[in-house]
Amino acid sequence: MGISIPVRLELPKRGDVPRDRRGRLLTDLRISVVDRCNFRCPYCMPEDQYPRDHEFLSKSERLRFEEIERLATIFAGIGVRKLRLTGGEPLLRRDLPELVRQLAHVPGIEDVALTTNGSLLADRVVALRDAGLKRITLSIDTLDPVTFASMSGGRGEIGTVLAAIAAAEAAGYSQLKINTVVMRGINDGHLLDLVEHFRGTGHILRFIEYMDVGTCNDWKRDLVVPSAQLRARIAERWPLVALERNYGGEVAQRYGFADGAGEIGFISSVTEPFCGDCSRARLSADGRLYTCLFASAGHDLRGPMRAGATDQDLAGIVSAVWNARDDRYSEIRSEATPGSREHVEMYAIGG
Ligand code: GTP
Ligand code: 5AD
Ligand code: SF4
Ligand code: SF4
Repeated sequence: MGISIPVRLELPKRGDVPRDRRGRLLTDLRISVVDRCNFRCPYCMPEDQYPRDHEFLSKSERLRFEEIERLATIFAGIGVRKLRLTGGEPLLRRDLPELVRQLAHVPGIEDVALTTNGSLLADRVVALRDAGLKRITLSIDTLDPVTFASMSGGRGEIGTVLAAIAAAEAAGYSQLKINTVVMRGINDGHLLDLVEHFRGTGHILRFIEYMDVGTCNDWKRDLVVPSAQLRARIAERWPLVALERNYGGEVAQRYGFADGAGEIGFISSVTEPFCGDCSRARLSADGRLYTCLFASAGHDLRGPMRAGATDQDLAGIVSAVWNARDDRYSEIRSEATPGSREHVEMYAIGG
């Protein structure tokens, strides 16, 4: 990590909206506000590789909220409409509602959302709502307390996350998204319980195929449960009907319960990649721009920003990086050689 990709800078004219080399627009920016996390999920930050004294970014290395707001304004100026705050665990930045307030006012931004593990959400959810947070996604890999504890590296407790859901509901978040990473032999025996629990609540459970992101999770293809298999298992018990996408580039395939008890989704980056209309960029907590979840390097924006670059300079850099983008990692995964790859870690760019 830490190397900038060489990009030939061709500054766009003011107001130009960049397209990448495959014609894709940049509409969605995921902002990691901190690389730390209070969990140690085996698919992201395995406990044995990230002990308590692991060195994460220092405060001065991380972007300040004003810097994030400035960059968000620049991204909005070239087409971004949706912002999603991620981490690590974003709520480890105690004053996150303040950032939400700043971002909700950025001209052009229509949606500010949060992805969190839910452990620190309950007492902050009202402040987040009041600051303008529109949507929340929580991660829950299982309802089984023992499996939950082990899948959070011994640090999480399912009751705390369920309490956070109740607090979010009380604050008016009636349609949460719940993300479940599926690992064969680890949590795939408990998935129907999750479906049963969330059916009829208004929340949308989404099963994510275990992905080979980062370098430390020892990913193996046989740990992936293909979504099609899982969908068939669920449909045996609760018949499903396919639903239209909400918007182009949506990562989840949507299904409704035939009996009207709501919706579930499948995010199948391994078996059914969705790079074709991927309009997402990621900004790491230290101000690097990544054009793919599986990128090996990001492009430094913090350096030029702190060295006095103007907004127009920064917009030019971002546009040039986006114009040069050709990523479609999930589609070409099978050609990559596992083990020889260098990938940014998931906790650095928030999934
Ligand atoms: P909205 O559509 O805005 O509600 O959000 P989302 O579904 O894109 O966001 P969320 O953070 O819930 O994404 C769910 C998960 O899908 C992420 O945590 C990743 O695991 C996966 N994911 C999201 N975007 C991408 C992507 O561009 N590529 C791949 N391979 N996986 C992605
Ligand atoms: N495979 C699939 N999803 C992952 N996430 C983190 N690491 C992985 C992985 N290896 C998901 C988390 C959370 C989001 C931030 O990213 O479950 O929902
Ligand atoms: Fe933390 Fe999320 Fe990574 Fe789990 S997936 S270790 S909660 S950043
Ligand atoms: Fe987008 Fe890269 Fe994910 Fe494909 S693998 S959908 S290009 S982030």
